[in-house]
Amino acid sequence: MGGGEQKYVQEAFDTNWVAPLGPNVDNFEKSITQFVGGNMHVAALSSGTAAIHLALELLGVTRGDEVICQSFTFSASANPIMYLGATPVFVDSERDTWNISPELLETAIKDRMAHGKKPKAIVAVHLYGMPYKVDEIRKITEKYDIPVVEDSAEALGSAFKDKKCGTFGEIGIFSFNGNKIITTSGGGALVSRKEEVKKRAVFLATQARDDAPHYQHSNVGYNYRMSNILAGIGRGQMEVLQERVGQRRFNYDFYKKHLGHLSQLEFLEEPEGYYCNRWLTCVLTPSFEIREKIRLALLEVDIESRPLWKPMHMQPVFNEFPHYSDGTSEDLFNRGLCLPSGSNLSQNDLERIVELILTKI
Ligand SMILES: Cc1ncc(COP(=O)(O)O)c(C=O)c1O
Repeated sequence: MGGGEQKYVQEAFDTNWVAPLGPNVDNFEKSITQFVGGNMHVAALSSGTAAIHLALELLGVTRGDEVICQSFTFSASANPIMYLGATPVFVDSERDTWNISPELLETAIKDRMAHGKKPKAIVAVHLYGMPYKVDEIRKITEKYDIPVVEDSAEALGSAFKDKKCGTFGEIGIFSFNGNKIITTSGGGALVSRKEEVKKRAVFLATQARDDAPHYQHSNVGYNYRMSNILAGIGRGQMEVLQERVGQRRFNYDFYKKHLGHLSQLEFLEEPEGYYCNRWLTCVLTPSFEIREKIRLALLEVDIESRPLWKPMHMQPVFNEFPHYSDGTSEDLFNRGLCLPSGSNLSQNDLERIVELILTKI
């Protein structure tokens, strides 16, 4: 926490705005709008997963549709496709940003269309805060006229060509889960250029109540709005967002400076024009065995590190669905490691981790 959060939470208590609406919700949305720029409209929600669910529903995804999803991601990118009764079609990553491969994306679109089904939407992810290939992906999605849900759950504070992540897709989403760069303990947001999309998102997120004095419903709704208490935490957190990005980027620079000379460790660099919030610092090792040697050596002294995300097309829950892969994400999963990356790591913590890795590699 940054320190300012309690003031806003107290305000909510003092004014009795203990509900899923109120001044903190409005002001948290305003501060996100200001931060991302580009006159976007923001709806604060109960989670990033809820935001993806609503985004897909707002794009008209329904039972029997196909939705393309980046395979190399956390399961929450794909689960909402299942909630809607649609079929996920997974697409592998490219090497430069570890995100959805433009070549494989086009192959997948063409192949699905050849099978008689045009994908209804595409979930593209800025994984670990690294922006996906925005220009290349946009070219393809415009060519085939398929909307993008931009999963920026891990990428608040990241940018591509000076434009903030969350503003590139037809609909963008953020997560404020406890492990994210800023948090409301649990929470999310939906971002759109169009005011009516935000209004519709809020309508669906508050049980789809029609405009009537009594309770009248013409749509199935959800209870997905953010609480005014948690939005108070969010307001305080927005005040320290830049500082948090600085701390995460400091971690990356420290690891790179002290471990970057090792031929066995490969860091994910920012291509030109890319600005990564470095939510997590990730490295690639030469083999699964070396990755495990480092991970287990850290674990032995109670330091947690983790393998990279296991691709969705390899997950038992999703492995029956179509996928277009060339082995990239499977290789990243086998050889990659997320190093300790908290915003509160001390110089001493970082030195300890680096020294341990140097002795093990
Ligand atoms: C890539 C990605 N997408 C979606 C989510 C879902 O966000 P939430 O946990 O707020 O539902 C997360 C994080 O949890 C994530 O890492």
